[in-house]
Amino acid sequence: MLSFSKKNILLGVTGGIAAYKSAEIIRLFKKLGADVRVVMTESAKEFITPLTLQAISGNEIHDSLLNTEAEAAMGHIELAKWADIILIAPCTAETISKITHGRADDLMGALILASKADIFIAPAMNMNMWLDDSTQQNYKTLSSRGITFIGPAEGEQACGDIGPGRMVEPENIIELIRSSYKTGPLSGKTITITAGPTREQIDPVRFISNNSSGKMGYSLADAAIEAGASVNLVSGPVSLEADKSINLYKINSASEMMNVVMECMDSSDIFIGCAAVSDYKPADYSENKIKKNEMPHLEIELKKNEDILKNVATNFSSSYVVGFAAETSDINNNAMQKLKSKNLDMIISNDVSDKSIGFNVDDNEVTVITCDEKIFLKKDKKIRIAREILKIIANNTNK
Ligand code: PMT
Repeated sequence: MLSFSKKNILLGVTGGIAAYKSAEIIRLFKKLGADVRVVMTESAKEFITPLTLQAISGNEIHDSLLNTEAEAAMGHIELAKWADIILIAPCTAETISKITHGRADDLMGALILASKADIFIAPAMNMNMWLDDSTQQNYKTLSSRGITFIGPAEGEQACGDIGPGRMVEPENIIELIRSSYKTGPLSGKTITITAGPTREQIDPVRFISNNSSGKMGYSLADAAIEAGASVNLVSGPVSLEADKSINLYKINSASEMMNVVMECMDSSDIFIGCAAVSDYKPADYSENKIKKNEMPHLEIELKKNEDILKNVATNFSSSYVVGFAAETSDINNNAMQKLKSKNLDMIISNDVSDKSIGFNVDDNEVTVITCDEKIFLKKDKKIRIAREILKIIANNTNK
């Protein structure tokens, strides 16, 4: 089941009796792990106070396009880019009309124009307003542009009329948004992803490892769940929590990772090797802690670990196999060589000499390379890069 962990949700609240229910919508999204920011129209404030929604969301309310203070904190374009999902609930006939006609004379209208987020609208209005030809025409136009309408529900209205126009209940709104992601482009597919570092023990207290935080691999797992896939995440030791819907396998060494991956691949369609697997391990493991006063000079012989990615590509040739290439020079040529020598379908190169991307930071910048194309994804949060990568994989595997 999809949670909203790491999702940025922008809730638009417009003026209607159902505005009081927006507090419950925020509470439910937050319970599912989302970060929620709220935009209110002036008329929404007649129905519920900004202070209430600020307290529940834990973020300041956004309500003005021309407020220099608010723009300095998070400008409207920044806010539009921040959002992964925009939900307008309740949404009046006026706001539906404004969006249809692309008007940007208030913050809500401007955000919708500037954002690439998935947009959901939960209308709430008098039944005759909803059934009026102009609202119905606007509804059809927005639906054809990819905006998803949730409701309206039928029933008794505040004015006493009975018919379509009530806002769908908050828990049903959340469930409908969740189910729209369950039918994503990778639904029905199983993906196995490796993440984090491996630890190669020298003795009971010392090991060889690296700086991988697991952030890139966990972001890929989250993005794969959003795209509707079933996900196995084989993770080295990291301090991250995996979404509850992910099948998480915790391992330490490269050989443990290899064993779990091989089992998972029996029922996987796609493999993504994002882990920074240690290339070498000590040739001999010391059962007892090596005493430093007995060993003033210590030499450790290392032997190569097996290449998990290459093994997957060789043994599961009908699966779509994706590797990562952590490079410091001649990035794309070196990555291309890995693509060919390991017989992969795709490789994703990142320049790990740049400290602002790659290992142990929140951002990445990558080039997605296949035999046919090279797609550059400019520096962004790892979750956004992961979503783009998963979109490309979905396109290639659904061809
Ligand atoms: O975890 P983060 O802090 O978010 O950092 C992300 C990252 C920098 C670790 C990630 O973006 C990345 O580049 N992962 C690959 C790291 C790596 O080991 O690269 P490589 O070029 O050495 O290896 C090439 C590929 O072979 C990788 O897919 C790797 O998983 C795989 N490999 C390598 C050695 C081995 N024994 N088995 C493998 O499967």
